[in-house]
Amino acid sequence: MNVIDIELKLLLEAIYLKYGYDFRKYTSSSIQRRFKRILDNSDFDSFSEMQHSILRDDSYFASLLPETTISVTEMFRDPTFYKAVREAVIPELAKLELVKVWHAGCASGEEVYSMAILLKEAGIYDKCRIYATDIDETVLKQAKEGIYKLENLRLYIENYRASGGIEPFTDYYSSSCDAVKIEESLKKNILFSCHNLVTDSVFSEMDLIICRNVLIYFNRELQDRVFKLFRDSLHHSGIMCLGSRESVRFSSSSSEFEDMLESARIYKVKSNTLCK
Ligand SMILES: C[S@@+](CC[C@H](N)C(=O)[O-])C[C@H]1O[C@@H](n2cnc3c(N)ncnc32)[C@H](O)[C@@H]1O
Repeated sequence: MNVIDIELKLLLEAIYLKYGYDFRKYTSSSIQRRFKRILDNSDFDSFSEMQHSILRDDSYFASLLPETTISVTEMFRDPTFYKAVREAVIPELAKLELVKVWHAGCASGEEVYSMAILLKEAGIYDKCRIYATDIDETVLKQAKEGIYKLENLRLYIENYRASGGIEPFTDYYSSSCDAVKIEESLKKNILFSCHNLVTDSVFSEMDLIICRNVLIYFNRELQDRVFKLFRDSLHHSGIMCLGSRESVRFSSSSSEFEDMLESARIYKVKSNTLCK
């Protein structure tokens, strides 16, 4: 191991011990890239120098946190996934009296509002309780506000149409100057809060968990932990949706989930498995 790798390893250990944020088992290439960028943009010459300030200055660490995570997202990202949700998942949810949904790693909220639109169009939004979480307080603040750049609107509308949406998209936002603001009626059953998938505990009795484009940054061991967390958080017939490059297959929880629609990375808890 070279000196830079050793210094980064020690820095990640220090961050975990001081702040409880555990980046030690994120895939090494993604974490190296992100911390290298932080170092290049700082006045420090090495991770060891930086570690001193991170350990002694909470506000300095807080200012770096948004750069340690990747929060790229968009509304109706991967329209085929949302099409599959419309066709396969929503009819299952419609059968329930109360629907509990957890968006884990929701970033700035575009994914959550996309799902809220689907639930509303299916006429089941009012019986849904939506919990949307992320490790990063900064993106959560933006998610709560639901204010997005006007310049992204065209893409969001294209995605919405490609996902099978046929309503006037203008029903879902109001616009001013260079921003669009999500309609308040889509927000009323959503609770945004901070939750760390690596260190925090279960959300119980969920009917649907959506965790897309988060696990790609975790190594196998960490993915196993998160799948167990999801299994323990899901109702006995709960549904789990992952990103297009993520899969529960080959994880230690593989036998506890069955494919609902593997091509869209949608899985269901196997009916004969008990919570361990
Ligand atoms: C690439 S974004 C995905 C956003 C959205 N799910 C989507 O697919 O468009 C990944 C998000 O995962 C969050 N994240 C990373 N590590 C996390 C952790 N340990 N616990 C909770 N969220 C985490 C990041 O802060 C970021 O907002």
